[in-house]
Amino acid sequence: MQSFVYTSQQQRVVFGAGTVTQVRAEVERLEGKRPFLIAGPRVADQVVAALAPLTPIVFGAAAMHTPVEVTERALAALSGADCLVAIGGGSATGLAKALALRTDLPQVVLPTTYAGSEATSLLGETANGTKVTRRTPAVLPETVLYDVDLTVGLPVPLTVTSAINALAHAVGALSAPDANPITSTLARDAIAGITSALPRVAATPDDIEARADLLRAAWLAGICLGSVTMGRHHKLAHILGGTFGLPHSETHTVLLPHTSGMDIFDLISDLGGPTSLHALGMAEADLPRAAELAGFAGGLALLTDAWHGRRPASPLAPADRLTAEVVASFANTPDPRMKHLITGLVEHLHRYVVEHDVTEAEWRRAIDFLTRTGHITDDKRQEFILLSDTLGVSSMVDLLTNSRIANATPSAVLGPFYVEGPSSRRQGFDIAAGLPGVPLWVDVVLVDRHDVPVPQAVVDVWQSNADGFYDVQLPDLDGPVLRARFTTDDDGRLRFWTILPSAYPIPADGPVGELLEAAGRHPYRAPHVHFMISAYGHPRLITQLFVAGGEYLDSDTVFGVKPELVVDFVARSGPTPDGRVVDGPWHLLTYTFRIA
Ligand code: BEZ
Ligand code: FE
Repeated sequence: MQSFVYTSQQQRVVFGAGTVTQVRAEVERLEGKRPFLIAGPRVADQVVAALAPLTPIVFGAAAMHTPVEVTERALAALSGADCLVAIGGGSATGLAKALALRTDLPQVVLPTTYAGSEATSLLGETANGTKVTRRTPAVLPETVLYDVDLTVGLPVPLTVTSAINALAHAVGALSAPDANPITSTLARDAIAGITSALPRVAATPDDIEARADLLRAAWLAGICLGSVTMGRHHKLAHILGGTFGLPHSETHTVLLPHTSGMDIFDLISDLGGPTSLHALGMAEADLPRAAELAGFAGGLALLTDAWHGRRPASPLAPADRLTAEVVASFANTPDPRMKHLITGLVEHLHRYVVEHDVTEAEWRRAIDFLTRTGHITDDKRQEFILLSDTLGVSSMVDLLTNSRIANATPSAVLGPFYVEGPSSRRQGFDIAAGLPGVPLWVDVVLVDRHDVPVPQAVVDVWQSNADGFYDVQLPDLDGPVLRARFTTDDDGRLRFWTILPSAYPIPADGPVGELLEAAGRHPYRAPHVHFMISAYGHPRLITQLFVAGGEYLDSDTVFGVKPELVVDFVARSGPTPDGRVVDGPWHLLTYTFRIA
């Protein structure tokens, strides 16, 4: 739950089309008989007519940023008036508020732009080149009369800058230090309203519905402006307006993308709004002083970008720049494949770090993990292969290689227990060499993809013992055992004796074991026999045959199991194919390897 403070203000708002005709009624509601009317030439007549038979004192010289000299001149003209009526943009409203502050007269304000000032108790006045902003309920207009018809004639360029000014109020309110659920709801509504209505108004300036949507959203933005503390965007806009005389809504428009983002910049440039302080007439030499007045870090860089009209960078830009720099450092790699792989690796690693917001502690832990993986690795213990296997990378590489060969036996990972150059054996040999286990007669055939037998192929086989160990894991064993090299006969056939393989854990006493443990994963492989088949004129096939019904077939820790490789190791009893006498049951493995 969020605790918050929200102060609502008392103000009467009349919203509609043609409501200017209600101005006399609103003045009389405030007991006004002699209005002081602040109005530019474009709209004065309409209001004068609507006020009849009341006869206002008309003042047409309101100015931007509410200079105190203008206020003083208006004060001199005001005597006898009992209420203030202002029609126009921020300048007319500002003057009415400045007069209300000094005379306590009630105000009726008819906004013709989207400035939003009418909805706030803020008053910014300029004296001696400095804009001073105050907040006091004394300046809040008693009545606001929104007449959508009055906004229809506002030229599109002014509509754009004025509406972006309103957008700045809403955007600023979202990140204000005293933002609260009420102002944030209003702000989100205002942002959605302005960004959807403004392009419609720009396309069809006299679309009353679009104008009404825009005006209503700008009013909400004005409420936001009046309810929370405005941040660096407004501070900058006031400095540039008050001290450097830049036009108010245009300056907001140029600054907003730089204080809040690219999307807004694109919206403004699409709508033809101003995008540089330079174009507003600011001197480049004034930038440092403006930055000094603003007094926050990065102010000069922001102003310089805004002065040049540069498209603001996305918040990720520094990370993107770093990635691009590292990728560029590999630009001269002569081997094109290596260049492709290494730059892709950099991009993916960088993106991984960014997307997962990797902390320094996490990164150090990863480095430590890899360091220990290296330390435990030697010619008998290949921890990096285990890591690749348990992350499924070995199987992914295998899948890519193999999935491109149709109608051939799938391959499977090599694993760390293959030993180069095993002893050559005659067919019929027993590679178990008397180790305990259930005898297994292997009778396989090797064919090409046209089912033509492949003779004289070299087939290396290796497997675990009945306890799940390879000979290289048992230093006391008189090995090598349960591994051999055979040659297929003239019919492409290979027969030999061994024992049933069993499920076994991959070596789990190193960093990879820790990883599996931390993830709650078991370290077991489903029972299998390895085959490496090399035949002249064919690509080498490295694969495994898995015992159907064996443990861990659907959770093999190195992801090596493929359905085509799961085979019935059929239980038999009685006479054996080669006449060997076997005590009790034995198993028969038959299979056809098809190589590309
Ligand atoms: C194997 O089947 O020998 C194996 C494969 C990958 C990791 C560990 C062992
Ligand atoms: Fe294995």
